[in-house]
Amino acid sequence: MNAKKIRISCILFLLCICFLCGCEKQQSAAKNKLYVGITYYNQSDTFLSQLNICIREQLDQLENDDFEIIIAVRDAAGSQRTQDDQVKELIDAGCNILFVNLVDRTDPSEIIDIAKENNVPIIFFNREPVAEDMMRWDGLYYVGADAKQSGTLQGELAVDAILADSRIDRNKDGKIQYVVLEGEPGHQDAIIRTESAVNTLKDNGIQLEKLGYGIANWNRAQAQNRMMQIIGQHQNEIELVLANNDDMALGAIDAYKKLNYTESALPLFFGIDGTDVGLQAVTDSELAGTVYNDKEGQAAAMAKLAVAIISGDGLEEIEFQNEKYIYLPYFKVTIDNVDDFTNTES
Ligand code: GAL
Ligand code: CA
Repeated sequence: MNAKKIRISCILFLLCICFLCGCEKQQSAAKNKLYVGITYYNQSDTFLSQLNICIREQLDQLENDDFEIIIAVRDAAGSQRTQDDQVKELIDAGCNILFVNLVDRTDPSEIIDIAKENNVPIIFFNREPVAEDMMRWDGLYYVGADAKQSGTLQGELAVDAILADSRIDRNKDGKIQYVVLEGEPGHQDAIIRTESAVNTLKDNGIQLEKLGYGIANWNRAQAQNRMMQIIGQHQNEIELVLANNDDMALGAIDAYKKLNYTESALPLFFGIDGTDVGLQAVTDSELAGTVYNDKEGQAAAMAKLAVAIISGDGLEEIEFQNEKYIYLPYFKVTIDNVDDFTNTES
């Protein structure tokens, strides 16, 4: 009788232990789950489609036995309304962190409100919200790159090329006739890149004459159209094309090809991003240079930050600017070092 009681007590005791362990295991599993909801302003954007691959790779690398990572990706296809709804849907689905590439960088209010209400932190990326919005909650972060630096580096690439080859001033008037192709109006990487590239040329004593500009929204086909119009007005007077990104520089090159211009009548083209197609054009000497937009670095910073926020571990090691911003540096790319960048791609 006593032995039976002891046996039953032992079984009950073991059952209790199993139950408690089970709970603990479940709790720690819940704690170590990173459920990332990502929404892009437009997934057909060349640079962002490549950044998306890097973000997935970085998150996959951080997954281990203690840390489960689930990723849900949405494309807002140019509509802020759609993106607001996507954020609601992702939070309802259980996301505990959001990576938001805003459609309209001046209009994140609805997204911030709902994230704050549900205590789901946001890492904005690539399209920088204005400072006042970033101050609205301490669960908001930004990962990107310094727009001014990219323009300055593009300007320096152009200065070096112009000083190295007097044939670039084709009409020998001592000035460089140039055209600018710009990204979306209001985007930090459009206004600031143009300004800092042009100022860098001027500061280095290059005399400039602006022949025209076109807004082409980062898009290759739009850039080709705009450039065809500008060539129509100025024929072979254009000596330099500064594009806010590689796709638009490539669109400008497409325009000259379509019009069958000979190589000696072509201007110099500069882009920014170092996308696969951009780097290939540098290798082929079609693009005189580009500025590498460090997608691997940005993706790694986002993944690391997300893990630190959710696990509560390692946040103090991250070097922020103004407590919530992380900016990765840009790099100059020419034919001389393009291999260093294409090799990291594989
Ligand atoms: C820029 C990039 C562009 C475009 C844009 C979208 O940083 O250079 O190519 O992707 O972001 O926001
Ligand atoms: Ca000239």
